[in-house]
Amino acid sequence: PSPSDPWRPAAHLTAGKNWLNDPNGLVYHDGTYHAFYQYNPRGNSWGNMSWGHSTSQDLIHWEQQPVAMEASPEEEIFSGCIVVDKNNASGLGSAENPPMVALYTSAYGKNGALPEGAQAQSVAFSLDNGTSWQKYQGNPVLNLAPTNNNFRDPKITWYEPGRYWVMTTVVADAQVVKMFKSTDLLHWDFLSDFSGAGAQGGLWEVPELIHMDVEDSTAKKWVMLLSINPGGIAGGSGMQYFVGEFDGTRFTAENAAAPDAPLEESQWLDHGADYYAANSISGAPGDKPVLLGWMGNWDYAQDVPTTPWRGSMAIPRELTLVKGAKRLELRSAIAQVARETLERSGEAKSKNLTVGSSLTDLGQDFRGRSQLIELDMDLTSAREAGVLLRHSSGPGSGLRISYNKESGTVRVDRSQAGTSNFSPKFSPFHEVALPSSGSRVSLTILLDSSSVEVFAAGGTAVVSDTFFPDWDSTAASAFSMDGDTDFIVTSRTL
Ligand code: FRU
Repeated sequence: PSPSDPWRPAAHLTAGKNWLNDPNGLVYHDGTYHAFYQYNPRGNSWGNMSWGHSTSQDLIHWEQQPVAMEASPEEEIFSGCIVVDKNNASGLGSAENPPMVALYTSAYGKNGALPEGAQAQSVAFSLDNGTSWQKYQGNPVLNLAPTNNNFRDPKITWYEPGRYWVMTTVVADAQVVKMFKSTDLLHWDFLSDFSGAGAQGGLWEVPELIHMDVEDSTAKKWVMLLSINPGGIAGGSGMQYFVGEFDGTRFTAENAAAPDAPLEESQWLDHGADYYAANSISGAPGDKPVLLGWMGNWDYAQDVPTTPWRGSMAIPRELTLVKGAKRLELRSAIAQVARETLERSGEAKSKNLTVGSSLTDLGQDFRGRSQLIELDMDLTSAREAGVLLRHSSGPGSGLRISYNKESGTVRVDRSQAGTSNFSPKFSPFHEVALPSSGSRVSLTILLDSSSVEVFAAGGTAVVSDTFFPDWDSTAASAFSMDGDTDFIVTSRTL
């Protein structure tokens, strides 16, 4: 960041210039993480959808690469995935040089392979580690006959018992996930539909099926990630998930909320307004899925005041499936590789203090624009306590992160945290109820130049929000309401 580009994140993926949204084709190959993404090479708002490309060794520092696949008048390149076809089952590479294979959505324009407006799934491949991409001659490889205008977002996973690939896609406006199988990545056979569970919202987008260990058990379960827009828990776009079984044909959700249940009963990957279209990195090292999400919300993403770039990815997260009070739940944490990188980037400063009714400046060591903060609070006699970050002089200003011990909720309030008048849909605050209330709470807070990600309750409750603070507002303070709170604050400047 700099005064002329004050909202450029220090620890999140952005493009040098122009618009980006969903991460696509996340893959780890030969020691490098690749992130492709929905990208407009020609402007700072959605359009000309192409696949941008960035690479990283540590999931924090990203190097932008040439555009991987560029929109043409005939075809835009919508979201999709990449796998390394190790055995060259597709025949698109060779045994010595296995291809990287992308499955993506062709969104057809005039004179395309299908009528204008149709969406179908296509293949592209790379024989040079993801640098250059060729489209497969037989595209599209999967169409819903005769055609469908909302059939998109292929993501595939290997199903070992059947020795085939399983693809999840959506018919977005019908709120249905469609699954297919293939042994060669080119011919796809229909398996089944998944629908009628959880929050229905408007569009269903970017589904993914992941096989996961249940922590502290020998059991495994299948988890379905699903982005919905609008109808998310914080308004507009949001991501829910389902836990259940997959028998090679059909996914069955267990303990899912009914479609007409209150939104709180669905399971959400994030309770903030800016976490969408996350999917996992194929082949990532480690035994946990590592997700990258887009930190945006279709309600206002095209109006946010950044330039010449617009759109940022969230911090990569690793997922663990844990037993909750009522059902299995996903726990998110900053992915280990990313976390180690962040921890190397700055020395940790710690401070213990007891705060009464006045706003207490945390001092020079805790000022900053980008920080990794660990916050422990014991609300001994207080009702509510928290921190005000990125604030200037006025006590009313700043990003307010608080815990209310009576309701057991964590709240992120961005309403006084800088520029917010660019859209009436830029919602003021977001809340999440922790599984148990009590006087103590621990939060991991990743603050960056225009975003905050708050991990609570061991990561089962997360709030990710963008916000656009003044360059000069860098103060950090602690507050406590109606009584005292003991704070332990640890911070690293990034
Ligand atoms: C989700 C999404 C996808 C689509 C892409 C287009 O944010 O709408 O469904 O493939 O973005 O950019």
